[in-house]
Amino acid sequence: MIRCKAFVLAFFVLFLQHVSAQQLVTAGMNKVKMSFSLDGEGSPVYAVEFSGRPVIRPSRMGFKLDKDSSFYKGFQLLGTEKRNVDDSWRPVWGEVSQIRDHYEQLVVHLQRKDASRRRLDIIFRVFEDGVGFRYVFPHASGTGYFVVTDEVTEFALAGDHKTFWIPGDYDTNEYPYTTSLVSEIDNKEMVEKSTDIAVRVAPDRYAVQTPLMMKSGDGLYINIHEAGLIDYPAMQLHVDRASLTLTSALVPDAVGNKAYLHAPFSTPWRTVIVSDKAAGILSSKIILNLNEPSKIGDPSWIHPMKFVGVWWEMQTGKGTWSYSDYPDSVTATGALVPSGRHSANTENVKRYIDFAAAHDIQGVLVEGWNVGWEDWFGNWKENVFDFVTPYPDFNVGELAAYADSKRVHLIMHNETSGSATNYERWMDTAFRYMNQHGYTSVKTGYVGRIIPRGEHHDGQWMVNHYNRVAEKAASYHVMLDAHEPVRPTGLQRTYPNWLACEAGRGNEYNAFSNGSAPEHETILPFTRLMGGPMDYTPGIFKLRGYTTVPGRQMHTTLAKQLALYVTLYSPLQMAADLPENYAAHMDAFQFIRDVPVDWDDTRILEAEPGDYLTIARKEKGKGSWFVGAITDEHGRVANLSLDFLDAGKKYVATVYKDAPDADWKDKPEAYVIEQVTVTSKTKLAVKLAAGGGAAVSIVAAD
Ligand code: NOJ
Ligand code: CA
Repeated sequence: MIRCKAFVLAFFVLFLQHVSAQQLVTAGMNKVKMSFSLDGEGSPVYAVEFSGRPVIRPSRMGFKLDKDSSFYKGFQLLGTEKRNVDDSWRPVWGEVSQIRDHYEQLVVHLQRKDASRRRLDIIFRVFEDGVGFRYVFPHASGTGYFVVTDEVTEFALAGDHKTFWIPGDYDTNEYPYTTSLVSEIDNKEMVEKSTDIAVRVAPDRYAVQTPLMMKSGDGLYINIHEAGLIDYPAMQLHVDRASLTLTSALVPDAVGNKAYLHAPFSTPWRTVIVSDKAAGILSSKIILNLNEPSKIGDPSWIHPMKFVGVWWEMQTGKGTWSYSDYPDSVTATGALVPSGRHSANTENVKRYIDFAAAHDIQGVLVEGWNVGWEDWFGNWKENVFDFVTPYPDFNVGELAAYADSKRVHLIMHNETSGSATNYERWMDTAFRYMNQHGYTSVKTGYVGRIIPRGEHHDGQWMVNHYNRVAEKAASYHVMLDAHEPVRPTGLQRTYPNWLACEAGRGNEYNAFSNGSAPEHETILPFTRLMGGPMDYTPGIFKLRGYTTVPGRQMHTTLAKQLALYVTLYSPLQMAADLPENYAAHMDAFQFIRDVPVDWDDTRILEAEPGDYLTIARKEKGKGSWFVGAITDEHGRVANLSLDFLDAGKKYVATVYKDAPDADWKDKPEAYVIEQVTVTSKTKLAVKLAAGGGAAVSIVAAD
């Protein structure tokens, strides 16, 4: 990322002072104020307020360490430092082309009063829309090498908020969201009632994952997450339903420890974003700002893109990842007998390349191309894949040349089946193979129990693994899309080749499970997407009858599938349906063809988590705007005021909307396309069906 010196308006105030143990230190930025003090036990305590209203009541901070089980009390305050920063920077890609980083920083230096004299610093940054803080174990902390057995950061809530949550599972985020009061959070009931295949038993029935979205009774929107998750486990939150206090619950390793650290060490940032408008949560840049600038000096090889792929064939049962139907088709000699349904065969992939080339889609993802899929699922085997051996019907060289001749990029697929150690051994070979055959991006996958040792997907070992893969991919100029990793925390700023992650419940659940409720996509931007882009795989046009499972269907209208390209931000967007299903609706496909994946500007026009969302975005380097509006199970009218357009200019708006009689359940594929001339003064009232949506492209008239 480029630091934009011209916009640096930083001024620096430094004061180091000795303060008494009980002294209150404060910092603030407009409506957001925070305070820090030590309580009677010498525990660090912070509090946050917004416009004088409490957001986080006084909450304790600190750790339990192997060397010191009460590294959360008995501290004295050595001193504090404060400074103001007003900076800006330009992301390689994103929702906006320039980001302001404006905060007041407060650093507190603490020391244990006992003989250990151990040191701990806490850095707070107060922004106009929230607070971030991190712990620093300084070089001279006296901790040396140590083990974190618990982090005990509290977030004492000021009320029994409405909360959008998923259970605190250590290995997956692929849950539907439950909406309840904080005092009602209990993941056991949800886990037991569900027939969904993703649901496992969460270890703590009162734990939830972040990003956690809440709304107070008096209309404050509050989001808790973390930024810059490096060399540390993910933070989940244990809920004390009586006191309404959330406490950090770090994902443990295979033997129950949380983190293995060596001073000096800085933890990830804990973030509390707050606004009196739902839109303020979505436009917050706190998480990106708290991440380190890009480590990629020359990002010219990084390109946001749209892609198609053979993937939905497998998800819906039309095809298979494997070459044969395991186990019946493996002969006594071990030879594979083709099932005849293998999707990743040369001819079929060419069909997708042709479709992509004909419709301005830059990429084609090919899953199931490499040997191993006969026996990959649920067996906890280390060496399932080698990432370089294609099936006999997949001609790597021929396809590389064919894709190249059509100016289409093939996207590599490296499913690890959870065997991260195996992937680490093969990684260089795999990336060299991608370079050799012209693959510029890779989708990785971590389905299954993790090797080594059954580490958790969201624990420190795997966090380090995902980050190593991002760095390794960057060293080979390969872009990355990780499936089943820990949920993102803004690291795409540091590694802009890491375009997207799954780490949430994607559209695929509508294929292999009961799916997700119509409200799901109105919650995701406030939860999973707070940390970074999601490979959600929108764009399904055949909404019923795509599987042989009776009663199964998508839970949106076709127009809503289009709107998702705008409302679910990602620099990597799949057009997930099959070419033959698009062929039936090429007029609607035009929106997917036109919609960009990189933006100069973003405006949140209307938002309410769980209910509706309307976003307008301006195409990067161009004057065109694109709008997506979605609703939950209730129909509504989206009122779009187009005042973001250039004044005095005429535009043509193409509106892709639900037909008057459409609804997600009984008539999901009914849509209408209209063209109207609009200006910055135009107000469009667009009717959204139950479970519906609308997509609008707005292009200058001449
Ligand atoms: C689950 C992923 O989410 C999906 O996209 C992929 O096709 C399968 N795993 C196989 O790797
Ligand atoms: Ca998945």
